[in-house]
Amino acid sequence: MGVGIIGLGKYLPKKVVTNDDISHLVDTDRTWIIERTGIEQRHIATTETGTDMACRAAEEALGDIDRNSIGLVLVATVTPDDMVPVTSAQVKRRLGLEHAVAFDVNAACSGFMYGMWTAEAIIKNGMVPGAATMEVKRALVIGVERLSRITNWEERSSCILFGDGAGAAVLEYSPEEPGILSTYLKNYDDHKGVLTCGKGYKAIPFWEDKEAYQHLSLRGKAVFKFAVNSIEEVTLAALEKAGLSLNDIDWFVPHQANLRIMDAAARRLNQPLEKFQISINKSANVSSASIPMALYDLQKTGKIRKGDKVAVMGFGGGLCAAAAIIQW
Ligand code: UT7
Repeated sequence: MGVGIIGLGKYLPKKVVTNDDISHLVDTDRTWIIERTGIEQRHIATTETGTDMACRAAEEALGDIDRNSIGLVLVATVTPDDMVPVTSAQVKRRLGLEHAVAFDVNAACSGFMYGMWTAEAIIKNGMVPGAATMEVKRALVIGVERLSRITNWEERSSCILFGDGAGAAVLEYSPEEPGILSTYLKNYDDHKGVLTCGKGYKAIPFWEDKEAYQHLSLRGKAVFKFAVNSIEEVTLAALEKAGLSLNDIDWFVPHQANLRIMDAAARRLNQPLEKFQISINKSANVSSASIPMALYDLQKTGKIRKGDKVAVMGFGGGLCAAAAIIQW
């Protein structure tokens, strides 16, 4: 019984911020950023909210699909517009998805993968004959971020990395199609706090410690190493679950955090970088949105064909990592 992706959408904010623009904010230069990260530019939301971007990506992913057939809206984000209502509830209301259950998931940059896993499980669960749970035939899974709101714009080693945007996918129960062949998720404990972000709560008069910082904080080298190691581990585990080997995979779609991470992962997996979808140059690291946006780019450029096998790999704060093997 298969659950596959039947629609993809993407939205990038209108404003483009180049590396030169960033060099007016912090002590950096265009060449350093390109050589160390592969990033040429990023899009930054100046008028669009997270819900705006999520809705635009979702509308494209939905296309002509009957909105009444969507039984679940799942939004992955670390930067929701509001704590309540959650972004998925706002998307559901705005798009008129009458029959959908809506909730958000936060698994940092792996959020979309954790969301896809959850949606797949919910869909499959409801399809078991006599299932006690309700039936969900189609789900809308969205990754959306306004990372510009948590970026420390005075810290040159991190502010160069991030951008804003949204990517969306419609998942469907399709018994005839293979769809998602396997998923493997793993959480590693972030003992040293290498990737953290404080929260925006109000100060509490009864709390005994000082309030922590609010910005995203990153120990780049440590995260880099974790990324390369975890990509290898979860990809090999997902392949084993699917009964496939690396050479069976036509395309690798990793979280877009640094071109050098993707290059190192390709070498670890002994695969040519040409099989990797690279979208980081134009849109930087957009956390939960990076993977659906990269999948969209892979499809839009016409590279992917029916029957192709795609390995999708996420990693991020938590620390968490995930890989899924999908047959198109
Ligand atoms: O979504 C998951 C979250 N994040 C990631 O996956 C990020 C993973 N890490 C990385 O992408 C890289 O570690 C960075 C791009 C963040 C940094 O690259 P690096 O090659 O690890 O550089 P570094 O931190 O070792 O710094 C090398 C030098 C340092 O100068 P010194 O100490 O050698 O004099 C830095 O101060 O580069 C300096 N530097 C910069 N120079 C110009 C750091 N940032 C910049 C900058 N411009 N923006």
